[in-house]
Amino acid sequence: MGSRGCALLLLLGAALPLLGSAAVSPERSLVWGPGLEAGLALPVRYFYIQAVSATGRNFSRSPPGRTQFKVVIKALSPKEVTRIYTPHPLDRNDGTFLMRYRMYGSVRKGLKIEILYGDKHVAQSPYILKGPVYHEYCDCPEEDPEIWQNVFSCPSQEPQITKDFISFPTIDLQRMFKEIPSKFSQTRGAIVHYTIVNNHIYRRSLGKYTDFKMFSDEMLLSLARKVHLPNVEFYLNVGDWPVEYRKVNDTPGPIPIISWCGSVDSRDIVLPTYDVTHSTLETLRGVTNDLLSIQGNTGPFWDNKTEQALFRGRDSREERLYLVKLSKENPELLDAGITGYFFFREKEKELGKVPLMGFFDFFKYKYQVNVDGTVAAYRFPYLLLGDSLVLKQDSQYYEHFYTVLKPWKHYVPVKRSLEDLLEKIKWAKENDEEAQKIAKEGQSVARELLQPHRLYCYYYKVLQKYAERQASEPEIRDGMELVPQPDDRDSVCSCHRKKPLREDL
Ligand SMILES: *[C@@H]1O[C@H](CO)[C@@H](O)[C@H](O)[C@H]1NC(C)=O
Ligand SMILES: *[C@@H]1O[C@H](CO)[C@@H](O)[C@H](O)[C@H]1NC(C)=O
Repeated sequence: MGSRGCALLLLLGAALPLLGSAAVSPERSLVWGPGLEAGLALPVRYFYIQAVSATGRNFSRSPPGRTQFKVVIKALSPKEVTRIYTPHPLDRNDGTFLMRYRMYGSVRKGLKIEILYGDKHVAQSPYILKGPVYHEYCDCPEEDPEIWQNVFSCPSQEPQITKDFISFPTIDLQRMFKEIPSKFSQTRGAIVHYTIVNNHIYRRSLGKYTDFKMFSDEMLLSLARKVHLPNVEFYLNVGDWPVEYRKVNDTPGPIPIISWCGSVDSRDIVLPTYDVTHSTLETLRGVTNDLLSIQGNTGPFWDNKTEQALFRGRDSREERLYLVKLSKENPELLDAGITGYFFFREKEKELGKVPLMGFFDFFKYKYQVNVDGTVAAYRFPYLLLGDSLVLKQDSQYYEHFYTVLKPWKHYVPVKRSLEDLLEKIKWAKENDEEAQKIAKEGQSVARELLQPHRLYCYYYKVLQKYAERQASEPEIRDGMELVPQPDDRDSVCSCHRKKPLREDL
C-alpha cells in the first residue's frame, strides 16, 4: 500500500507539475539583476528572484502557500547606519519576483543582502556588495565612460539612436545657436538650451512653455552623478510634438533637436519620455505608477481576465471619441470611456464621462486599446508591462524603444482609423492561445528594454553620439545658468573618486 501510494504520487507529479513539485527549493531558486552590483548606482536598485522547485522546475505561477520570499538589506559594518527602504518583493504572478530598494545614504564598507524563503537562504544568499555603495544623491561620477557602461551592461548599439543620427554626420553648433532661437522658440516656445562642460550643467529657456525642463534637469543631474558626461551643447524640445520637419536634402538641411517623442516624418532625435524618466527617478518615492511597481500589479491570471478590450483616457484625439461610440454599440467587445474633456467639450453630453480608473485595474481586462493622444500615448510602455494583450493603433509617432517592437509578435496592430478594431478584438477572443502568447512576448520585451538602468544607458549614449559629432567646442552662452546638484547634506557620501584638491578645476 505504502509503495503504491508513492508511485501514484509520482505519476501525479509528472502529470501535474504544479502539484507534484509544489515546494520551492531555496537553494535551486535563482537570483539576478543590477541591484546585486555595488557599482550600479540607481535611484532604486532592483533584482529578480525566480522560484524553482526541488526538481529544478521554474515556477510559472506564484508558489502556493503562505511562505514568501523575504529580503533583508543592511550595511555590512554595524558601525555604518543608513536608511534603506526595502518593501516586500513584488510578486509578478509568474513565478518571478521583483525586489526594489532605495538607499538614503551611502555605505563605505558595503551592503549585505539576505534573501530568505522561510528561514532558509535563497541561491547564494547572503550577497555581499563590497563597498563603497553609493546612494542616488551621492555625487560621484565615474571618470571613464567605458567602465561605467560596462558596469551598467549598456548594449553596444541602440537601433533608434543609430537611426536618429544618420541624418547628422556633423553637428554645427554655431549654426544652431544662430538659427534655433528665431526658428523654433517663437512658434512653440518649448525649447531648452543645455550646455554641459566639465560635468556641470548649464541651461537657458527659449520660450515660455519650458516648465517640463524640471524632468530633463533631474535626469541630467542624476546621470552626471554617476558618470562624467562629455562636453556637449544641445537643444531639448520639452513640448509634445517633434519640431524638425526638414529633409536631409533640403537647403538648409535639418538640425538635430532632441525630443521626447519622434515621428516618421520628422528628424528629431528621441530620448525616453519625461514620463518614463520621471517615474524611474521617483520610484518608491513620489510616484506609484512606475515601470517597476506596475509589474507586481498586473491583475488576475489570463484565464480570469474580463474578455473585453478596455480604454480609459482623455479626449485628446478624435479617434478616442470614436472608441466610445464603438463601445456603446458593442459593449460585449469593448469598454471605452472618456475620463475628461478638454479638446471636444461639446461631445461630453452625447458620449458621457466615466470616472478615472487606476492603472492597476486596467489589467482586469484581457485586451488594452492603445490610441494616440496629442502624440504617442505615453501609457504604451505600462500597458505592455501588464499581463494583457495590447491592441495598438498605427501611428507616425514613436518613443525611444518602439523600433524594437514588432506587430503580431509584441502587440496586435490596429488601423489608424480604428475601422478594424472590432475585428481584431474578435480575432483575439477566437485565438486565445495566440493572443496570450503575444501578450507574454510584449511583456517580456518591455521588461527587458524598460529597465531603469537601460534608460541611463540610453541617455548617455545619445549625449555621447551627439558630442562626437560636434564641429566645435560647446560653449556656455550668455543667459545660461548653472543647474546645481541638489543639496544632500543629511546623508553621508564621501566619493572615493574625488581627489579633494583637484575638485572642480
Ligand atoms: C528558468 O528561469 C530563468 C529565469 O527566469 C530562465 O533564465 C531559465 O531559462 C528558466 N529555465 C527554464 C528551464 O525554463
Ligand atoms: C480564477 O478565479 C477563480 C475564482 O476566484 C479561482 O478559483 C481560480 O483559481 C482562478 N483561476 C486562475 C487560473 O487563477
